[in-house]
Amino acid sequence: MERELTMEFARVTEAAALASARLVGMGDKIAADGAAVEAMRAVFDTVHMDGTVVIGEGEMDEAPMLYIGEKLGTGEEPVLDVAVDPLEGTNLVAKGMPGAIAVLAVTERHGLLHAPDMYMNKIAVGPQAAGRIHLDAPVAENLNNIAQGLRKRVEDLTVVILDRPRHQDLIKQVRACGSRIRLITDGDVAPAVACAIEGSGVDVMMGIGGAPEGVLAAAALRCVGGEMQGRLWPEDEEDLERARKLGVTDINKLLTLNDLVKTDDIFFSATGITEGPLLKGVTFNSTGAVTHSLVMRGRTGTVRFIEARHCFAKKPKYAIKGACEESSI
Ligand code: FBP
Repeated sequence: MERELTMEFARVTEAAALASARLVGMGDKIAADGAAVEAMRAVFDTVHMDGTVVIGEGEMDEAPMLYIGEKLGTGEEPVLDVAVDPLEGTNLVAKGMPGAIAVLAVTERHGLLHAPDMYMNKIAVGPQAAGRIHLDAPVAENLNNIAQGLRKRVEDLTVVILDRPRHQDLIKQVRACGSRIRLITDGDVAPAVACAIEGSGVDVMMGIGGAPEGVLAAAALRCVGGEMQGRLWPEDEEDLERARKLGVTDINKLLTLNDLVKTDDIFFSATGITEGPLLKGVTFNSTGAVTHSLVMRGRTGTVRFIEARHCFAKKPKYAIKGACEESSI
């Protein structure tokens, strides 16, 4: 994939973030998600590529847009696979809480695990701790090894965990090690990626969250030499059937970073919607809005933070769909 695509994919997540940011705190997560989906879809179609959604809003009969199998882009080469979460943290936007992002990953064809829409048990770390984790190792062993890699004391580690009853035992074990915990209500992609960003304040992300979200975070970690491992965590027969339909033959397989993301030819882009450990949120001003994005390219390992000032009067309408009604400027 050519490097020029970097800016194209930043434009895509910017548009989704701008649209859903209008709905921060409005208490309507479905509307916020819908706005992000529509805006992301519109900008994708201006990108010169022949893309197919492999991780998206659901199956064709479940989602009107960005469904699995949907074609994106102008239809010209390169032929690419696309994973999207136009609004990662729908509750966070609905309640105006920190940590919501618009996010995507793009690879050459067959570069991403086609993760079923179910849970995955995950552990994610940045480059300094890569090679020192194992999903099946005791929590204390993982934290000791990560601390060594980061040249920190175990007590100085910050572990991000989704605040869920299913994590009671995990939380107890991390506390017993003396590591600091940041419990989050939603949105485990941003903290997983933040593990790889020096100064983010996050060292480890652990626990059970969405499998599609796991693949998105893995794409970023692969770009910069971090590590993630996962294992699908089915809840019922429906989950098992969903996994079977996507070609999963061994539900208990330990998924390494290579299984989650199979190539270095990756782009990852995320734009902050509400302020979080990874990115600042969207702010609106008298002429438009300011966005903060993080774009990574796997081939070169380049990480770009892009602060963009959007002038609504000059931007094409499709790129500010939802973010700017004529009456609001
Ligand atoms: P949505 O944006 O789809 O609401 O998902 C947010 C999220 O918090 C993910 O970041 C996380 O992986 C998953 O949901 C956790 O699922 P659950 O809320 O069922 O524990």
